[in-house]
Amino acid sequence: MIDQSTIQRIFDTAEIHDVVSDFVTLKKRGVNYLGLCPFHNEKTPSFIVSPSKGIYKCFGCGKGGNAVNFVMEVEQLSYIDALKYLANKYSIPVQERELTPTEARKKNERESMLIVSNAASDYFQERLKSDEGKAVALSYFKERGFRDDIIEKFNLGYCSEQWDGFTKYALDKGYQKEYLVDTGLTIDSEKGLFDRFRARVIFPIHSIAGKVIAFGGRTLKTDKKTAKYLNSPESLIYHKSRVLYGLFQAKREIVQHDRCYLVEGYTDVLSFHQSGIENVVASSGTSLTVDQIRLIKRFSNNVTIIYDGDSAGIKASLRGIDLVLEQGLNVKVLLLPDGEDPDSFAKSRSASELTEYIQNNESDFIVFKTRLLIEDTKGDPILKARLISSIVKSISIIPDSIIRSVYIRECSSLLKVDERVLYDEINKIKITGTVAAPVNKPRNTPVTTNSALQRQYQCDAEEKMLIRYLILYGNEVLFDNEGEEQVYVGEYIIEEIMSDNLSSDNPLYQKFFTEYHRNSTQENFDQKRFFRDNEDSELRMLAVDILSEQYELSKVWTKNENFIETEEMKLKELVVKNINEYKQKKIGIVLKDIDNQIKDYESSGEIENIRQLIEDKMMYQKIRAQLAKAIGHRTIF
Ligand code: CTP
Ligand code: MN
Repeated sequence: MIDQSTIQRIFDTAEIHDVVSDFVTLKKRGVNYLGLCPFHNEKTPSFIVSPSKGIYKCFGCGKGGNAVNFVMEVEQLSYIDALKYLANKYSIPVQERELTPTEARKKNERESMLIVSNAASDYFQERLKSDEGKAVALSYFKERGFRDDIIEKFNLGYCSEQWDGFTKYALDKGYQKEYLVDTGLTIDSEKGLFDRFRARVIFPIHSIAGKVIAFGGRTLKTDKKTAKYLNSPESLIYHKSRVLYGLFQAKREIVQHDRCYLVEGYTDVLSFHQSGIENVVASSGTSLTVDQIRLIKRFSNNVTIIYDGDSAGIKASLRGIDLVLEQGLNVKVLLLPDGEDPDSFAKSRSASELTEYIQNNESDFIVFKTRLLIEDTKGDPILKARLISSIVKSISIIPDSIIRSVYIRECSSLLKVDERVLYDEINKIKITGTVAAPVNKPRNTPVTTNSALQRQYQCDAEEKMLIRYLILYGNEVLFDNEGEEQVYVGEYIIEEIMSDNLSSDNPLYQKFFTEYHRNSTQENFDQKRFFRDNEDSELRMLAVDILSEQYELSKVWTKNENFIETEEMKLKELVVKNINEYKQKKIGIVLKDIDNQIKDYESSGEIENIRQLIEDKMMYQKIRAQLAKAIGHRTIF
């Protein structure tokens, strides 16, 4: 853990232009710098660095952030590792926070296990080059057609046939038995210590940062009695469900191509790399977990799952893919020809042939699922209805409504069912999945009619505008009446929101207002920096998007030919108008809600509750009239 003041120092020192220049050639363009975006392929530069704002932003692919984000993104590092990278670049000594005794013990244990694992990997690689290794293991890899550079790149190794060759070596070197056993490299039995992976070729499994955390060992025997693969057990450093084989070697390519190929096994990954396609990972024979999907999502939103031609388990794995959809990833599926697996298929093809084949044959997951299952339903209306609900369920969990509607159109034509029927089904799922609007809603609760359904927030535009004013001008004076205290833009907006108890139904915006309110009382509060460098990535992106507005000109008003007014000059008028319009809209929502409640009470005969509601209604109408007047007059206060 790096302590807070060191983090601050790193942020203060890391100058965005200087940091980015190590990776991108930048040309000066006005007050900013322009270059080719390192995160997507482009020929004309749309990547902008703004030293004054301390941010970068690509108007092509949308990526943006501060200096630390840039390092995280370009080097694919964690937050902490990016900070350490910058600390190193600027020779800032990193003060690590002292650990509690339990933390320290865990950390020691983990580090010791990592050391043992990495030493073991070195040892196994060495053994591959021994006489025995060359004769039985290297020759095996060669027979399967793997090149030396691939064997090297994946640190493939060999564990000899001896009972305890590795264990003896490691104990001799002074590694403790405890860690040999905890990592699973050594098995402690009644007959003594022995090597788990003996007589197997070794596939080390790396963490995202490239440390060896586990192993897969493949037998060289062909008999059916020996398990083909043995893997390291779960441990403090290895959680199978949170690891994807090959991710360390693939991560940059996944970002570059903005797509991740997902295959089943170790050798599939190797063969893809060998043919020149490097954005590939393996789930290692298990069905995908949510953690693995989130791992992919860190690097790309697009996945192509590649199945063996004779995969028995495709239908079973369909369920797992719903998980991927739920995480908002775009899933494509490729079924290889009968009898082929990615390993065999890639072997006989060049990168361009392989890519072309994939592009021509992959299909959207929903379409794939429909085609796969529709055959079983021929002529059976009940089975077909079941298929429709299953597919509709898959579609309904996709977070993005536009993507949902595209899928609905496709499925409507594939299934020969009216689009409206599919929409109805989806709405049914969504409504029963969420809470339907209660009839006797307690008074004064914020109105949230069907927001869950459409993810449309009621006052999005007004609130976004307020957030813009807060970020861009929060620290500027709004009212400067003589003899009175100055009122700042931020203070005014927050005060107006808080005193009327207004809240946003957009969780991100609400988070923003709360954070602004909570922190703005600090001395020297710099809202631009605070949000730009916020540890919450959603807040950070919100700020970066606002700070990097491309068309500043659209915010300039021309009064007449000789005189231009900027947004800043008209701030007072604009901010006050924005606040009033916002309140107007909120009141409109409340009024509609009151009307609904009145109707509910009327139909249920609870007339006695209505009087109070009508009083409320009149009060709100009055406020609304006042606000309207204020907006009409423009000049207020
Ligand atoms: N697997 C495993 N244990 C097994 C069998 C398989 O852990 N007993 C995992 C391995 O990660 C393997 C993947 O499942 O890579 C896919 O299995 P399979 O297709 O049988 O193996 P391949 O990768 O094709 O290996 P090979 O080409 O050497 O047969
Ligand atoms: Mn295989």
